[in-house]
Amino acid sequence: MNSIQLSPKAHKRLSTFVGEMAGIQLPAHKKNLIESRLRKRLVSLQFQSFDDYVEFFLSNNKSAKTEQSIVIDLLTTNKTDFYREARQFEFLSEFYSNSVNRLLLKRQSLNVWCAAASTGEEPYTLALELSELAKTHSDFSFRILATDISPTVLATAHRGVYAESRIATVPLELRKRYFLRSKDASKALVKMSKLLRDTIQFDEFNLIQGDYSNLPKFDVIFCRNVMIYFSPEDRQKVVTNLRQQLNPNGLLFVGHAESIGSNRLDFQQLIPTVYQVK
Ligand SMILES: C[S@@+](CC[C@H](N)C(=O)[O-])C[C@H]1O[C@@H](n2cnc3c(N)ncnc32)[C@H](O)[C@@H]1O
Repeated sequence: MNSIQLSPKAHKRLSTFVGEMAGIQLPAHKKNLIESRLRKRLVSLQFQSFDDYVEFFLSNNKSAKTEQSIVIDLLTTNKTDFYREARQFEFLSEFYSNSVNRLLLKRQSLNVWCAAASTGEEPYTLALELSELAKTHSDFSFRILATDISPTVLATAHRGVYAESRIATVPLELRKRYFLRSKDASKALVKMSKLLRDTIQFDEFNLIQGDYSNLPKFDVIFCRNVMIYFSPEDRQKVVTNLRQQLNPNGLLFVGHAESIGSNRLDFQQLIPTVYQVK
């Protein structure tokens, strides 16, 4: 099975397609990654070569569109965690603990967009932190839109069921308050409480091809650890679009290895990787 290899031609067609559709860059040095992520699928569909497989999903065949979405799903990296880059969540809580910043919301619910939500750990961490804040500040409420390009990860996010080992980074008090343990102890699973799940709406949205004009304005956008896969040009376009979706004084959170390039001029940096609209 390992003998099926990606030819330069198939690589070019596939990387152009994924770059255009999802913004994800797949240069030559990612050849092994592409092969290992797609090989099983290609074999299960009984294709003899990557050239044939690429030809199929780029064709007008009825099932090609579905296959395109599977290809993108298989080639995206979904790594995430509860409280990933924890300082940012702490910063967000501190920010809205300050009554001056809450006053700027004019008693409207804080509208949060988690723009590459993966399997849900990131939007649930937001919901945990903001629920705690709402408990102690009666003038504060929030709602979260969690989106991703991948319907598969969104289905997991929506379900809100995780292996118990995944929540080790969640403070103990919050684990007790917001997670339900599976009745079957041998399964070692936990489920997010309904209260928390109800604060989040899950939806598909493609940051490269999506129509931003259909989205509302947000006070806070988390767009973390996805732009790192985009070209500098796409990154710039995405940040420009995110900027347009932010309300005055709105906050943009990006991943630790990500920068907002020349869009910096539209923002004031509050701490590394957290920017406020100027
Ligand atoms: C590495 S995960 C990051 C998850 C989370 N933001 C975090 O920092 O833990 C990247 C996510 O971005 C999604 N993604 C990739 N390309 C995308 C695009 N063009 N539009 C929206 N989401 C995309 C992937 O499906 C994946 O779930």
